[in-house]
Amino acid sequence: MRPLHVVILAAGQGSRMKSALPKVLHKIAGLPMLHHVIGTARRLGAENIHGVIGHGADLVRAETQGDDLQWVLQEQQLGTGHAVAQTLPNLPDNARVLVLYGDVPLIRTDTLQQLVAGIDDQTLGLLTVTLDNPDGYGRILRDGAGEVTAIVEQKDATAEQKLICEVNTGILAVSAARLKSWLPQLSNRNAQGEYYLTDIIAMAVGESMAVRVNQPENPYEVQGVNNRLQLAELERWFQRQEADRLMTEGATLADPGRVDVRGKLTIGNDILIDINVVFEGEVELADGVSIGPGCVIRDSRIAAGAVIHAHSIVDGAEVGVAAQVGPFARLRPGTRLAADTKVGNFVETKKAIVGEGSKISHLSYVGDASLGRNVNVGAGTITCNYDGVNKFQTVIGDGVFVGSNTALVAPVTVAEGATIGAGSTITRDINARELAVARGRQRNLADWARPEKKS
Ligand code: UD1
Ligand code: CA
Repeated sequence: MRPLHVVILAAGQGSRMKSALPKVLHKIAGLPMLHHVIGTARRLGAENIHGVIGHGADLVRAETQGDDLQWVLQEQQLGTGHAVAQTLPNLPDNARVLVLYGDVPLIRTDTLQQLVAGIDDQTLGLLTVTLDNPDGYGRILRDGAGEVTAIVEQKDATAEQKLICEVNTGILAVSAARLKSWLPQLSNRNAQGEYYLTDIIAMAVGESMAVRVNQPENPYEVQGVNNRLQLAELERWFQRQEADRLMTEGATLADPGRVDVRGKLTIGNDILIDINVVFEGEVELADGVSIGPGCVIRDSRIAAGAVIHAHSIVDGAEVGVAAQVGPFARLRPGTRLAADTKVGNFVETKKAIVGEGSKISHLSYVGDASLGRNVNVGAGTITCNYDGVNKFQTVIGDGVFVGSNTALVAPVTVAEGATIGAGSTITRDINARELAVARGRQRNLADWARPEKKS
């Protein structure tokens, strides 16, 4: 099979975005548009990806990594044909070339697979779409037999041609050898004074090549982004597809329009996701997991039957089987909750290992700590893990009972079965089954006369 090379045009300024950021770095589902396209090119098995950059080139390059990427600078944007021509020296003669666009982010891999599969030395593949309103697009011209003969740009089209509703998506596939012979012949004698890539269609027909047309399943696949309204429109389409996938795979969504997936979400069966939940990075939800409204779940694994109650943030954490988290909990990176644990409201954890059956139910901070099984951490408990310079560990054994409003000044170890009296500030290790009380002793003074207001 001849190698596939993908050219991605991304040199335009995108002035209608009204942004300091190059257009192709604006994000859909948390990922720059250009990265969506690069991901698609990789899934197609591209040997090399040629990015044509111009406006914001340094930033685009800095934000985009990969050994398979080759950048070419198009100093002046003289047209799509001129843009592709910049990559010719880097294209092997035997390559098949697919042209994509950095601002057409949601083109599907299988649509392109079909397009590319249909081409050979004698066949050019063209992706078109039929629109109710074709305004602004290049129109597809066909002869009496229905064969494509050329593309005419809107600004060069006659009134009659403007009635054609089949338009050019800009996406096409053809052999590198043909591109190398055609692109140097392009002229810019047209309404826009540009070198049009679209003119190669008539050249192909002139050389008796076949033009094979494919269409995407959904027009959103080939919709470009010129402003933030179109960006939002594609974001919603993307998210609706993710929602549909989740429902198909076994999740009940309280509202498919109010869940956002910005990354890779893997789910089991019988998942419940309430409204306004955001998933970021790589997240796995096992069977029977339930996520309450307003949660943010990032780079985490949540085991079967666990419940994340409303307005919790779970970030870089592992949540064990049937664990209960929140409402209003914040699990920070390095948190590992074993099975049947509970982390309740207004509790923050960080690098905290929590053993099976342990509970931190209210208003606590547990950081750089490891807790055994069946530990009960009372309300208002703080691990004082930081002296302003260094972080220290708190180690708590199985079955420890930590009274409310305890400060554990790390490094400190509380051995199994120990009990800490409420309001203690613990600065020394506690042995197994000891009671530690570290607070001022209560004094009651009899017949205390309160001060009276002076008249
Ligand atoms: C192009 C097609 C048109 C098609 C439409 C689909 C041509 C001549 N016309 O028109 O048939 O219907 O796309 O959206 O190809 N770019 C560069 N360098 C350049 C010029 C453009 O990188 O010198 C990039 C732009 O950043 C943009 C893309 O190519 O991402 C398309 O360019 P644009 O000028 O928007 O083409 P259209 O006029 O929309
Ligand atoms: Ca355009």
